[in-house]
Amino acid sequence: MGKDKIRRFAENATFRCVVQPGFEEVFRKDYALKGKWNRDFFGNDRPIVLELGCGRGEYTVALGERFPERNFIGVDVKGARLWRGAKTATENGMKNVAFLRTRIEFIDSCFAPGEVDEIWITFPDPQLNKNRIKKRLTAPQFLAMYARFLREGGMINLKTDSVHLHEYTKNLARGNGLPVAACCDDIYGTGFADEVLSIKTTYEQRFLQEGLPITYLRFGFGDRREFETIPFAPDEALLSAGVAVQR
Ligand SMILES: C[S@@+](CC[C@H](N)C(=O)[O-])C[C@H]1O[C@@H](n2cnc3c(N)ncnc32)[C@H](O)[C@@H]1O
Repeated sequence: MGKDKIRRFAENATFRCVVQPGFEEVFRKDYALKGKWNRDFFGNDRPIVLELGCGRGEYTVALGERFPERNFIGVDVKGARLWRGAKTATENGMKNVAFLRTRIEFIDSCFAPGEVDEIWITFPDPQLNKNRIKKRLTAPQFLAMYARFLREGGMINLKTDSVHLHEYTKNLARGNGLPVAACCDDIYGTGFADEVLSIKTTYEQRFLQEGLPITYLRFGFGDRREFETIPFAPDEALLSAGVAVQR
């Protein structure tokens, strides 16, 4: 392991805003903070917003600055990445920002029903390999997990450069009858991006330099808690022929 990584891991352990449950604390088990984030961590009763796959935590920190009346938790398995956001939040004395280092697969061990107000998913891996479709962070199994802790009427925001993932998620939302509050296939080209949508993550900056349009989808669950797989032609092609697809 590189020296820089070791230094970041060591520093993470000193940051109050970094929460790092061990595998045995979340695997088939409720984590100690489940249902208690506001009482035991933030010390208030403000709405909690998650950023899943937060990387360096640009959305978590920037939203935390803009909305002091809300609490933000960036979730990522990579400690050396979320260190960046945690360092900024610590240096700026931000009391409404936390980082949870865990696999998203364990996230419903960490949050209780209704505990989360809103979710952001920022530039996740589109998982274009035919064996990885179920690993997409908007696949039915993941949505069912989020539905276990997202409050009634809560919204999911998906920002991605991947047209494939954007269309896949849109198709899944429509096929399951989920309420879609906003949908745009080029937020900067159409002038759709407002102040919040214009926050740029590390990956987003890279994709913008490549000239890729950035898409956005905002949807809720209505009264659905289980989600069906909906046929999606580009994935069918991927599955049957194993052809490569575009992002
Ligand atoms: C493509 S990067 C995007 C990072 C950041 N959102 C951005 O836009 O710069 C995807 C991030 O998701 C994290 N990630 C992917 N799958 C994950 C999982 N199952 N559990 C936790 N983190 C995950 C990776 O560690 C990585 O930091």
